[in-house]
Amino acid sequence: MNQNIAIDGPAGAGKSTIAKLLAKKLNYLYVDTGAMYRAMAVYFLRQNLKADMEQEIKEACQQVEVEITYKEEEQQVILNKENVTCFLREEETGKMASAISIYPAVREKLVDLQRTLAKKTDVIMDGRDIGTCVLPDAMLKIYLTAQVEARAKRRFLELQEKGIECDLEEIKEDIKQRDYQDMNRETSPLRQAEDAICIDTSQMTIEQVIETIMNLHKKKMEEKNL
Ligand code: DC
Repeated sequence: MNQNIAIDGPAGAGKSTIAKLLAKKLNYLYVDTGAMYRAMAVYFLRQNLKADMEQEIKEACQQVEVEITYKEEEQQVILNKENVTCFLREEETGKMASAISIYPAVREKLVDLQRTLAKKTDVIMDGRDIGTCVLPDAMLKIYLTAQVEARAKRRFLELQEKGIECDLEEIKEDIKQRDYQDMNRETSPLRQAEDAICIDTSQMTIEQVIETIMNLHKKKMEEKNL
């Protein structure tokens, strides 16, 4: 069986930064599942579908094929044979991804793909339902979180660095709304798995988080005599 690591948590907690660095250190494959929901969102937006059009979205799911490849160790998301990776990080896409991820038809499709990837090799997978639903038998489960203020500030600095004008209060409100949506949906809501270890990164540096998880991983490997 593969030694998979599940990292779940709210938007902006640092999941992808941490998971990418860990994957390099441990030589695991990094799988960003949020990018898959974002790719679906790109498709629906292009079809001019609104987030509340459940029936149309359900039907459109049958026309969507999402694949994952890797280019220079970076995950690429292929939507109906087109590489859409460069469109995924836009705010509108993130909001739509959160809104459409409530639909079982969307989730079923992506969960299948995620499990298939995790069967092939050791993965570090991040998302909202990895420890609770996608990989319930993951060797190590981390629930990575941070206070809303800390997450909003990080996002604000990230956008500023890119030269994008933004408002801290607006970002904070968006994050709160996304938290609410992701934690209160009926299908696979974001929550900490019973056997997950919670790490609050509000006051931690990236290096401290990495060190903490590396130690937890080492302990798990020793327990399993690996
Ligand atoms: O991690 P992210 O911000 O790229 O994810 C975008 C949205 O996709 C997130 O708000 C909720 C949804 N998502 C999900 O429902 N389940 C996952 N495993 C990953 C993301």
